[in-house]
Amino acid sequence: MLKTISLWGVGALLLLQAIQIDIPAPPSTIDKNNEIKASHEIMGILRSSCYDCHSYQTKMPWYGNVAPISWEVRAHIKDGRRWLNFQEWEGYSEEKKQKIFKGIVKTINHRMPLPMYLTMHEEAELTTEQRDEIKNWAENNIK
Ligand code: HEC
Repeated sequence: MLKTISLWGVGALLLLQAIQIDIPAPPSTIDKNNEIKASHEIMGILRSSCYDCHSYQTKMPWYGNVAPISWEVRAHIKDGRRWLNFQEWEGYSEEKKQKIFKGIVKTINHRMPLPMYLTMHEEAELTTEQRDEIKNWAENNIK
């Protein structure tokens, strides 16, 4: 009985693998000039804590390919890029940039990076000082 149930379980998991969320492929040429420009320090923080979801430079973890976890991971990447892609920055209108800077001030202390992501990515965790730095940087850019 147990054996039958677990076989069904394995079968179901295998079937789930057929369903994947596709992340749109990055453009074949990425214009380096479009990337956001900030101090070396700020860029370091953005790259290590935000780029997985807010740039084309996603380091996909192994579980990013295993359904059903991958649905969540990929949805975050897809959504994250759509909201904000630091490598598309210069293509944004001034209005959108302002909205994002305000969004950063609003979210850097709790919602961003996504808490669930941080449970799997210790290296992306920010110290209070780093969060303050990002916040100050964003605030200074608000007109
Ligand atoms: C694990 C993926 C992930 C990481 C890492 C991540 N984000 Fe996000 N971000 C998202 C998703 C998904 C959204 C859109 C939906 C939402 O608001 O939850 C988003 C939305 C945002 C928004 C718009 C929110 C608003 O309400 O205006 C800002 C600003 C933002 N992220 C900044 C950052 C910054 C700065 C970092 C790094 C410190 C970061 N994010 C790291 C996934 C991520």
